[in-house]
Parts: sequence; C-alpha cells; structure tokens
Amino acid sequence: MTYTVAVIGTGEDPDDPDTDGFAMAYRHAGAYSRLDSCELTACADIIPENAKQFAQRWGIPEDNVYTDSQKMLDAIEPDIVSVCVPPHVHAPIVLDCAENGVMDAIHCEKPMATRWEDCREMASACKRAGIQLTFNHQRRFGKPFRKAKTVLESGEVGSLERIELGGKNLFDYGSHLFDLCGFFTDQAMAKWVMAGIEYSEENVQFGAHNENQAIAQWKYTNGVNGLASTGDGGIIDCQMRLLGKDGVIEIGGDQAPLRVRSRGSWRTVDTGGEGIHGPRNTIIDAAKQKLSTRLPGVSVEKTRPETFVDRAIADSVDALDSGRQPELGADNALQATELIFGCWESARQRGRIDFPLEIADNPLEAMVENGDLLPASSN
Ligand SMILES: NC(=O)c1ccc[n+]([C@@H]2O[C@H](COP(=O)([O-])OP(=O)(O)OC[C@H]3O[C@@H](n4cnc5c(N)ncnc54)[C@H](O)[C@@H]3O)[C@@H](O)[C@H]2O)c1
Repeated sequence: MTYTVAVIGTGEDPDDPDTDGFAMAYRHAGAYSRLDSCELTACADIIPENAKQFAQRWGIPEDNVYTDSQKMLDAIEPDIVSVCVPPHVHAPIVLDCAENGVMDAIHCEKPMATRWEDCREMASACKRAGIQLTFNHQRRFGKPFRKAKTVLESGEVGSLERIELGGKNLFDYGSHLFDLCGFFTDQAMAKWVMAGIEYSEENVQFGAHNENQAIAQWKYTNGVNGLASTGDGGIIDCQMRLLGKDGVIEIGGDQAPLRVRSRGSWRTVDTGGEGIHGPRNTIIDAAKQKLSTRLPGVSVEKTRPETFVDRAIADSVDALDSGRQPELGADNALQATELIFGCWESARQRGRIDFPLEIADNPLEAMVENGDLLPASSN
C-alpha cells in the first residue's frame, strides 16, 4: 500500500529557522521521504513562492501545487495530510481536511490549537470521520525521554511521586513537556490545576501569545503531583524531573541529557549522543544539515541521522497500517492541552480549576483582549 501525502503550510526557508518560521513542513517531508509506503504528492501554501519552492525541493509535480488547501483536498484526495500552518490556523485546516477528502490520517503540528473548544472539535471531527489524528509532539521519541521511562519502569527510583517541568513557557514549549507528562504517567488524568502567570512583555511565538513566567501545581487521579516553573527565573533547572520514592530522574539539565540519582549518588545514562531535541544539539542544527539541500530525491534523507520527527511520523504511519493507537494520538494531546489551558484559566479565575475544563476560549488571549493583561509591545 502506498499512501499519497499532501502538506499544508510549507513555510519559507528551512535554512533560517526561528519562531517566525521554522518551515516544519520540510522536516515532515523528510520523514515521509524515508518511508517506502509514502509518496509526497501535493502541497499548499497561501504564499505561492513558498509552495513552489517546497514542491521543487521534494519533487512534487507543478500541477499539484496549490495556494488554496481546500482546492487541493478536493482535487487530490490525499490519504495523509501534514498540517504545518501556525497554531491559530490548525483547527480550520484540520476540520476542512476531516470534512473534505482526507482518507486516512492527519498529522498536525503542535500546539493543538489556540482555543480549547477548537482542540476538542478537531479531535471529535476526526473521530467521527474515522481519520487518525496525531500531533507532532516528537520528543516522546527521543532517547533521553525513552530511556528515562525505562529507568522509571525498572523501579530504580521507586514509584513516581512528582513530575516537574521547566522550560520557556506553558504553551509553545510546554506543549511538548505536558505531553511528556502524559508519557511518564501512562496518560493518567489530571484532577485539578492551580497556577499563576506573569505577562508584562509581549511574547508571541508562531503567532500565539505565551506568558513570560508561570508557576503551576496539579494533581493526577493516581496521586502523582505535577509542578511547573517556566520562563526566566524559573526554579526548575532542567527540562523535566521525575521524583520517585527512592530517587530522581533528571532530563535535559546542565550536567547531561539524562541522569539518575538512586542510593545517594548520580549516574549519567547513555543516550547514544541524543539530546532533548534530536541526534544533534538542537532542532536548529538539524535544520542546518543537509536537509536544506535543494536537490529533489530521497537518497540524502535516507542516509542522514534519524530525527525525532522522523520517528514520530514513522510511528503514525505504522499505527495507520496496523490499526493500533498511535503514540501521538489526539486523546493524548488533549490531555496535555487541557493542562495548559487549565493553567491559564486558573490564572484568570485566581483559583483552582477542577477538570474537565469547561471553557471554550483561550484564557491568556482573552485576558490580553479585555485588558486584564497589558503586555508591552515587543516592537
Ligand atoms: N514540533 C516542533 O518541535 C515544532 C518546532 C517549530 C514549530 N512548530 C510548529 O509548527 C507549526 C508551523 O510552524 P513553522 O515555524 O513551520 O511555520 P512557518 O511560518 O515556517 O510555515 C507556515 C506556513 O503556513 C502558511 N500558511 C498560513 N496559513 C495558511 C493557510 N490557511 N493555508 C495554507 N498555508 C498557510 C504560511 O504562509 C507559511 O508558509 C506551528 O504550529 C509551530 O508551533 C513545531
């Protein structure tokens, strides 16, 4: 079986990644190119130059290059669509795909969407249409995280009591870390969350507001506690820390991508040279590798080091083939995203939020719009 793959939101320049544009579509395309079962067939971007350049790079026929994604869906009816547009456009595009022509699967970039109602609607629309919907929380496939889970399951640090996360913010960056909380807690449901945020300087990442600093505490139904401290001055000096009854697992700290303390001493765990972003130091390094070559063809893709995005997309395609649940399925992403919006809702309500979350909007965005938060312009 060969799956036809279309990409929506190609991006402009994979050689110059920053939060105004990473051109994640090129990472997705690289991942599909490594799979014999997938054929990149079409692409769409509202900026014609972006779409054209992407098509040239990946050998997509000129006739299959679109500026209107709906027209592309109608004409091509792809089996799989990768959605790489900015977060506030995820929901309308995923809903279009679910309603118009995508046959089997949608792999959408993270964070899910900028409004909680949209996140739930995307998941339920795909469920109704029988389409597999996944979100690109690719860090689950990184060795520092995989090996941390193995150590946790080995019992070396005892049963998990608390999970801590640091990082830059709750939404753009935190989307990965809250997803990993789901990974480490075997998708335990959160009972409640309580959070405070600081937002005095505008911090727009990929077109969406993100707070400057946050402190949050939450509890899972299985008794595990969560603690997040993000932004400059955050008190958690690593990406994630798993505190067990008898020891600690630390991921993405200054000392090592992964280390474990048990019986009073630390040991570094070999992650095969992988850091928290991939086989090289950062996703930016990955972008500067041969990935950016303008030559069409898959040979370069098949021989370069495997990225976490490669593994994420391979898992989603394999799940589609076998009928099993994909690791990055929408239900897991919803759990992570409910915590994020729950943190912001707690800041808005100035109190504890019990789940399920009963809001439709984006509390941070709403507080900026109604003047409760007045972040100074970054320009
Ligand atoms: N998984 C990760 O680690 C990771 C890293 C960086 C970015 N991201 C996410 O990837 C997504 C895309 O970010 P990016 O940096 O690649 O963006 P980008 O700006 O490089 O590319 C997005 C493209 O979407 C196009 N676009 C916008 N609206 C469209 C529409 N309605 N139809 C068709 N095309 C449209 C734009 O013209 C642009 O070319 C975001 O959700 C971002 O948060 C994820």
